Amino acid sequence: MQSTTTNSTGLKTTSKITTGPSEIHIYDNQLNDALLDEVYLKIVERGGMAYPFFHVDKPQDLDPTAQAVKKLVREAWFKVIPPKFWPRNGAAGWEVWHNVMYEGDNLDYHCDVDEKASEVVHPHMSCVIYCGPKNRITGGELALDLNSQQDYEFIRYKYNRIVLFSSHLPHQVMPVKYIPDKKQPRVAISCPIWEHEISPNVQAY
Ligand SMILES: [Fe+2]
Repeated sequence: MQSTTTNSTGLKTTSKITTGPSEIHIYDNQLNDALLDEVYLKIVERGGMAYPFFHVDKPQDLDPTAQAVKKLVREAWFKVIPPKFWPRNGAAGWEVWHNVMYEGDNLDYHCDVDEKASEVVHPHMSCVIYCGPKNRITGGELALDLNSQQDYEFIRYKYNRIVLFSSHLPHQVMPVKYIPDKKQPRVAISCPIWEHEISPNVQAY
């Protein structure tokens, strides 16, 4: 069942999609635009993909680009996402990636897991933040597989949107078909919350 709110530019909205044991929540226009824009510019300029684990209790332990990303992740999790979605016993922090996608790019079907664990271990909740461009794009939808049988809920890209979803849901990002300004790629930050610390595959940072 989906409860939708009419979106107009700049309007704060929250939507909820319930699918049996799974939850999907969408928060629009609730993050600080200036911080989003700073993060967007830094990511497009800097490249790279993965960050060290972001500890909840260490707000200032990273380089300037990662620090701006961390500020945004903290704003999303502390100010927008309701506390009921945090782990009951508290969180260690967030595993953070960003994805920069141009026309033709996609992200393959996967589940968010601890990639270094020998068994399947999911985060407590998964989360993505859309940072730019501000213009509408075609394609690049987040496709959440509701029952592992490719029964998808498609969520379109939108500037200043947070998508929070149950971490057991497999997902992919559909191919980006059209971006109005070719120099302004689709940038998303993935920031699932973990009850315990994991070791991200830090390759580019
Ligand atoms: Fe993911």
